[in-house]
Amino acid sequence: MRKLGGITLLLTLCAGTVYAENVAPPIPVGIAVAQTSNVALFGQEQIIGAKIAETYFNIKKGVNGTPIKLVTQDTGGDEAGAINAVQNLISKEKVVGIVGPTLSQQAFGADPIANRLQVPVIGPSNTAKGVPQIGEYIGRVSAPVAKVAPYAVKQALKQNQKIKRVAILYAQNDAFSSSETVTFQETVKNMKLETVTVQKFMTTDTDFTTQATAVLNANVDLVIVSGLAADGGNLVKQLRQLGYKGIVIGGNGFNTANVFSVCGSNCDGILVAQAYSPEADNPTNKAFVAAYRAAYKKDPPQFSAQAFTAVQVFVEGLRKVEAATKKKITQLDLATVRTELNKALRKGSYITPLGEISLDKEGDINQKTFYVSQIKMDSAGKVGKFVIVK
Ligand code: ALA
Repeated sequence: MRKLGGITLLLTLCAGTVYAENVAPPIPVGIAVAQTSNVALFGQEQIIGAKIAETYFNIKKGVNGTPIKLVTQDTGGDEAGAINAVQNLISKEKVVGIVGPTLSQQAFGADPIANRLQVPVIGPSNTAKGVPQIGEYIGRVSAPVAKVAPYAVKQALKQNQKIKRVAILYAQNDAFSSSETVTFQETVKNMKLETVTVQKFMTTDTDFTTQATAVLNANVDLVIVSGLAADGGNLVKQLRQLGYKGIVIGGNGFNTANVFSVCGSNCDGILVAQAYSPEADNPTNKAFVAAYRAAYKKDPPQFSAQAFTAVQVFVEGLRKVEAATKKKITQLDLATVRTELNKALRKGSYITPLGEISLDKEGDINQKTFYVSQIKMDSAGKVGKFVIVK
């Protein structure tokens, strides 16, 4: 049985006395997110959030005195990259659990492997329907599209009560976008609006003339886009350039400051429902916001907040494992740590940057508060921000 801990260091003090002290190595937590490809528009923000959490919880004595250590593996933007990263983290890096991957599309490819090997996974941003149901070792701290997306449509109607005709567009080769559009289409129907056209595109597309022309010809007052940041942002840009003047809702793929450089001034006004607000009033969020602001001179985005939360859930879960087994994590064998941790994650609640959350039996997040933001770009179309609208 492989034990996680137990290296002996000899410490020489200035008096010349030599002591033997048992120093446990840090507990490895895997981070499998996109650091390359277009999906890194999300992944970069996730790495930042995870690292802030690592520092924050290690200052708070980690797991009862044992620090954690993030082991990062780039997934790239596709399923193959995510599978490779997850396999490496599990077999080579011997992590206790994994935060990731970035996309739901990648989760459906990689998570079954972690599940089979009984390694807990927490999706920081996997919002498609069905992710926690991949298996008993799969959970998420990302609220599903069905919970979050309707808020944006309600806000659009608040801003323009005359909205009647709606165009809906989505990336058909992406699991999250295909899932989110179902929620948007149902919401539009429930609110007695008319979906005049549904247009599909691919996350690899760069020319959206066909879809934008169809939207303009349909004479709509609301456009709803479910895509990732690069394709979705480009689509909105081209739609505006062709002359669309009405309200635009962007789905969760627009929930990153990295979209600003994609659509520039044409990002202005996009409504985005969010599972995070920098204003959330609890000590963990305050500490997270302060650390983020100190480093980046602006407010943290949702993807960073969710990645912080995923690391937090692992740290608190590991503390619970120590309390339940009355042993240090480093004294337990790795398989036991992974199974006990998976059970512990689903117990109790957590005060996080996302507010108070818990994981249900299936590993899905219970979260209470959601928000809607509107993108505001400066006059040069370079600097943008998400402004929470009430
Ligand atoms: N929320 C997006 C997804 O689930 C990033 O793929």
